[in-house]
Amino acid sequence: MPSESLAEENEQPIMSTHDMPFIIYGTAWKKQRTGDLDTVPYDPNAPVYEQVLASCEVSLHNLQTRYLDGYILHSPFKVFEQTVEAWRAMESLYHQGKIGHLGISNCYQLEVLQNLYKIAEIKPTLVQNRFYDETGYDIELRRWCREHDIANQSFWTLTANPHLLTNSVLVQLAGQYGKAPAQVLFNYLRQRNVTPLTGTKSVEHMKLDLNSFDVNFSADELHQIDLLLEEFATPI
Ligand SMILES: NC(=O)c1ccc[n+]([C@@H]2O[C@H](COP(=O)([O-])OP(=O)(O)OC[C@H]3O[C@@H](n4cnc5c(N)ncnc54)[C@H](OP(=O)(O)O)[C@@H]3O)[C@@H](O)[C@H]2O)c1
Repeated sequence: MPSESLAEENEQPIMSTHDMPFIIYGTAWKKQRTGDLDTVPYDPNAPVYEQVLASCEVSLHNLQTRYLDGYILHSPFKVFEQTVEAWRAMESLYHQGKIGHLGISNCYQLEVLQNLYKIAEIKPTLVQNRFYDETGYDIELRRWCREHDIANQSFWTLTANPHLLTNSVLVQLAGQYGKAPAQVLFNYLRQRNVTPLTGTKSVEHMKLDLNSFDVNFSADELHQIDLLLEEFATPI
């Protein structure tokens, strides 16, 4: 929960559409699962459009702000029309000046993202996905995002990739640059236009994570990690 002063600071937009900040103040709308029915901040029987609007209002209230930098659809629906309905509600929040950027999460099929992009009046500018081998590290999807000015965020960056963190390529780069393998992975992602999210609860790890980005790997070093991802990636 933000402090009063943080809430006040965030009442005004803090970035332009093409200027994604390092720290984003935002939240997501998530369809309820059966077990969540008592806790969701909206009427689960209402139309999806109404659910998104109600949920956002609760988030704004809880975060003590009138404006969010980003608002993310937690995942596409199985039925595309419902994804569109949720997106239209998010666009309405954008037009009301309550949201700066619209994004989608857990969207691993490029075709779904392309279809969303096609119908969107307000285009997605953020995709937040799990970074792991089973979705091919989103190699194609990330390429398409770059071409369409869509920022990428990664989660599960460390928990899903112990095999990368112990791989000789990362371990050697870590030694060479005086970093931990986790920092090497974070910095590689930054240089490949992905913002890694950290889920640490430790102050020490957070400091380490924030201190990942003061080195620049050469094109050849980046390419070595690209090849590693291609090697481990499972095609989806
Ligand atoms: N869109 C979605 O569906 C979705 C799903 C999950 C998460 N997320 C977002 O992603 C964010 C990151 O969460 P995550 O689950 O992806 O976390 P993560 O960064 O993959 O995992 C963090 C775990 O790694 C450990 N760790 C060890 N060394 C670390 C280091 N140097 N730095 C950081 N962690 C270290 C942490 O333990 P310690 O606590 O001991 O450091 C923690 O258990 C979350 O805050 C959430 O906002 C989004």
